[in-house]
Amino acid sequence: MSTHPHPDSAAGPLRIAAAGDVHVSPANRGQVETAFSRLPESADLVLLAGDLTTHGEPEQAAVLAEICRPLDIPIFAVLGNHDWHAERGDEIAAALAQGGVRVLDREAATCRLHGLEVGVAGAKGFVGGFEGSSLPDFGESLLREVYAECGREADALDRGLEAVAGCDLRIALLHYAPTPATLQGEPPGIFAFLGSRRLAEPILRHRPDLVLHGHAHAGTVEGTIEGVPVFNVSVPVIQRDFWLFEHAGAPRAEREGLRLHTA
Ligand SMILES: [Fe+2]
Ligand SMILES: [Fe+2]
Repeated sequence: MSTHPHPDSAAGPLRIAAAGDVHVSPANRGQVETAFSRLPESADLVLLAGDLTTHGEPEQAAVLAEICRPLDIPIFAVLGNHDWHAERGDEIAAALAQGGVRVLDREAATCRLHGLEVGVAGAKGFVGGFEGSSLPDFGESLLREVYAECGREADALDRGLEAVAGCDLRIALLHYAPTPATLQGEPPGIFAFLGSRRLAEPILRHRPDLVLHGHAHAGTVEGTIEGVPVFNVSVPVIQRDFWLFEHAGAPRAEREGLRLHTA
């Protein structure tokens, strides 16, 4: 785990802006630039839930990096399947780092904001499906490798959430969905390609304060996994530039329940 240092901000609720599926390219640069330029007024922390580019070209990530560079706000991200399309995910992450965007690839990071320690466990997640229609660990080695890959993502999420267990605010940041609750609106026949129930296992074990994902462009914003709040912040779903959360709670040791509001 690593720490992203940031000075404590002024009093007031901690404001988190989240979005997935920004799908940046030179074609929509102006639109994305306008959206991100408003962030300093509305957010203390930005979380990006993957599919930052259209086709995974580092040049597309460089566009987003240029847009993010002037922003003096911690920005954490995971990559999505589009960001891996050209098999240049590492270059995408490096390009984003030039703009101050920290890509969490099966890792966790913390930052201190408003006197609170915020921990973000990031993993892309993977496919596999949900109860009643999920990929088994059986048969051809190619299919078993898909199963194994999802297991590696789930294990990394587990380790990340363990690493931030002591934080005042604990967030799981994914691209693929850990529940079908936030997929409602998508054709049920493709749920297996939109996420996996296996990603819910570490979430149930650690019960983070907030789970974010994207990927399902036609899904539903809000859901839960046995009471743990899950938000699909895919831009086509939220139908705005960012979904804003406000955390007005006291440090974890002093509070009875999290007060996390949608702003
Ligand atoms: Fe997407
Ligand atoms: Fe995606």
